[in-house]
Amino acid sequence: MEDEVLSLHDRLMNWLLTPLFLLWLFSTVAGYVATLNYASQPYDRALLERAQSLAAQMKLGSGRERLDVTPTLPAGGAPGEQDRMYYSVSNEEGRMLVGNADLARPISYRGGKTGPLFSNTEHGGEKTRMVSLVYPGPPGSPSFQLHMSETTHQRQASIRGIFANIVIPQLLLIVIAVGAVWYALKQGLEPLERLRQDVTLRHRDDLSRLDETQAPAEVRPLINAVNDLLERLKQVMLAQQRFVADAAHQLRTPFAGLKTQTELALRETEPERKQYALQQILTSAKRGNHLVNQLLALARNEPGGQGAETFAPLDLNRLAQECTVNWVPMALEKGMDLGFEGISQVAPLRGDAASLTEMLGNLIDNAIRYTQAGGQVTVSVDYEHGGAVLRVVDNGPGIAPPHRERVFERFYRVLGSGQSGSGIGLAIVAEVAKRHGATITLNAGPHDKGTLVTIRFPHHGT
Ligand SMILES: Nc1ncnc2c1ncn2[C@@H]1O[C@H](COP(=O)(O)OP(=O)(O)O)[C@@H](O)[C@H]1O
Ligand SMILES: [Mg+2]
Repeated sequence: MEDEVLSLHDRLMNWLLTPLFLLWLFSTVAGYVATLNYASQPYDRALLERAQSLAAQMKLGSGRERLDVTPTLPAGGAPGEQDRMYYSVSNEEGRMLVGNADLARPISYRGGKTGPLFSNTEHGGEKTRMVSLVYPGPPGSPSFQLHMSETTHQRQASIRGIFANIVIPQLLLIVIAVGAVWYALKQGLEPLERLRQDVTLRHRDDLSRLDETQAPAEVRPLINAVNDLLERLKQVMLAQQRFVADAAHQLRTPFAGLKTQTELALRETEPERKQYALQQILTSAKRGNHLVNQLLALARNEPGGQGAETFAPLDLNRLAQECTVNWVPMALEKGMDLGFEGISQVAPLRGDAASLTEMLGNLIDNAIRYTQAGGQVTVSVDYEHGGAVLRVVDNGPGIAPPHRERVFERFYRVLGSGQSGSGIGLAIVAEVAKRHGATITLNAGPHDKGTLVTIRFPHHGT
């Protein structure tokens, strides 16, 4: 991962160092060219003077040439010594007349000019620098050429010296610049590094805010966003913890009951009383089973459970009718009238059929459970303002206004109903409605009697 994503530090280093390096390369090349030009000038001049003085000794171009002069030239060779020198005098055909090496070569008379001509040559496998002079002589007499060359050791040594004097300080400058940039970046990014350490060294459930006051202004919005996220995470974690604690507490009661009842049943010897005790155990087990199912239903419909991806088109009218039919036996058992009032057309809805069945089941269960024997419960489906509406109404004792908000909370029960329960039913209803974007209202029924729960689904687009 680290090879793919360059760190901010490396990225900035690259952006700063690449131009710096190119600049250095350019100045080095320019420095080298300049050195080459200026360093060779005095050597060329000395070479020319020597050639001219030899020509003067030989009286070249006077018509009375004396070619028997033997010049004293440095032998050269050893390092640090003078460069080795060669010369030759030739006639205009390029035939060597005298000299210590045949350097004769045709000279291009640039526009008839006979000034000194410098050229880079080679002699005996060594680089040499040569100057060529032309002496036309008086009319009628032959003309002469003088070539003189020298090896370039001294020139190269002096170029190297000058060049080193230019390049080394520049190199030093670059090194200092790189160091300064690197250090400045490290200093500048220090707050981020501290932040990183702060986060890595945290205890795994420490969700406290990150300190944004130490961070550079550029990263502060990011830190604020992370802090917001941490805050939300903290809320969710607290809710989870509370839920687990509540659920455990709720489960403890049926399990403790089961234990006591089982101990009792084991102790009974009379078959009839044993039978009764076993019946009690079954009731407790059913209650515990119901509670676990309710908890699972709640968890399934909570935010963070499955989302809207399980939604499918369905007909609320049919779903509600089928669900109501399933509760008829329980209503009959209590001598109650459970009715359904649907609409003639379909009530299209996108939703999760299993969750909606769960929701409706809880509403009908409550209506039957809390309404006196012989009472009346009606489930109805309507279509209002383009959205499906589900209602469950009973003529029972109703829920007093102070409790109407709170009954939707988890584990909240109104005491004194004489019915067993866990207080999760309406919490499930609330979560399912929320998942479907529906709104719930809880009112008294007709004539201010009983309970009316209304669930309005959002406008169905298609
Ligand atoms: N139709 C109803 N009539 C009267 N009281 C009701 C009705 N529905 C719910 N309640 C009250 O709201 C409380 C919460 O209901 P619920 O969340 O389903 O939990 P549970 O039914 O397990 O007690 C119930 O304890 C009951 O007091
Ligand atoms: Mg209930």
